[in-house]
Amino acid sequence: MKVVLPAAGLGTRLLPATKEQPKEMLSLFTEGKDDQLCVKPLLQMVYEQLYDAGFREFCFVVGRGKRTIEDHFTPDKSYVELMHEKGKDQLARELDSFYEKVKNSTIVWVNQPEAKGFGDAVLKAKSFVDDDQILVHAGDTYITSSGSDHLERVREAHKEYDSEATLTLQEVENPQKYGVVEVEEASSNVYDVKNAIEKPEEPPTNLAIMPVYIFEPSIFDALKQTSPGKGNEIQLTDGFMKLAEWGRDIRAIKLKEDEVRWDIGTSETYWEALKGSYEYSEKKLSQ
Ligand code: UTP
Repeated sequence: MKVVLPAAGLGTRLLPATKEQPKEMLSLFTEGKDDQLCVKPLLQMVYEQLYDAGFREFCFVVGRGKRTIEDHFTPDKSYVELMHEKGKDQLARELDSFYEKVKNSTIVWVNQPEAKGFGDAVLKAKSFVDDDQILVHAGDTYITSSGSDHLERVREAHKEYDSEATLTLQEVENPQKYGVVEVEEASSNVYDVKNAIEKPEEPPTNLAIMPVYIFEPSIFDALKQTSPGKGNEIQLTDGFMKLAEWGRDIRAIKLKEDEVRWDIGTSETYWEALKGSYEYSEKKLSQ
């Protein structure tokens, strides 16, 4: 299964910080090597989590002003050596471990020339995907679960139910801000998605779609036929609802209560993510 990581959005809600710096490169706290607190770009955290869960083929969708992402994901051996020379061995090991993962991965960079929406960004990855299944993960959200169990559950559910798409859901207090679904329980913890609406004014449920999905390649046909929706952008939600219109099965798993989501899309959620990731890492380091 290949991974598509859209990171080409404008990040306007975090301006001016995101004028010349990609939102996805803003950092959170995490546990580093040698039990040290570490500051890491969110996109690196997402990539490493997926790598540790066994994924090796990645397509980053980027656009203008995103060159630092490409630079960050290009190993810099001389810098690692310089860190060793300066006696900063722990930092050198930290970088080296990331670079090892990069070297063991296939990473493809795809350009989204205009930020026409999350769905459009996924569509841009079509030629990378061929006939494979894809896991799509937003570049501005990190989900933490014990042993990345949520990735395993979404993969398992997709395989077991032979669905066309499998979504990840979370119960939230403010569903108006999300894509929201109506579901029926198919079996314990796997749901049949009956309807999905992007940022509804009157949400039918409090089940919000989290940006971790698995799709069959048919998602590209659906996205090609999807017109711009909310915000005049091609929405991935509208894309997979087209699959449902065509009679294909869309299913979902739900995050558990102790599975935490950090989203850095707005100043408020970025602050929550900073606080949450600091507390979470400190707790893990003290165990
Ligand atoms: P958002 O929906 O938060 O949009 O993107 P945005 O454009 O980055 O931010 P605002 O609304 O202007 O503040 C969710 C994820 O989808 C990617 C983003 O980079 C982010 O990782 N994305 C979004 C794209 O790759 N292309 C797009 O056209 C839109």
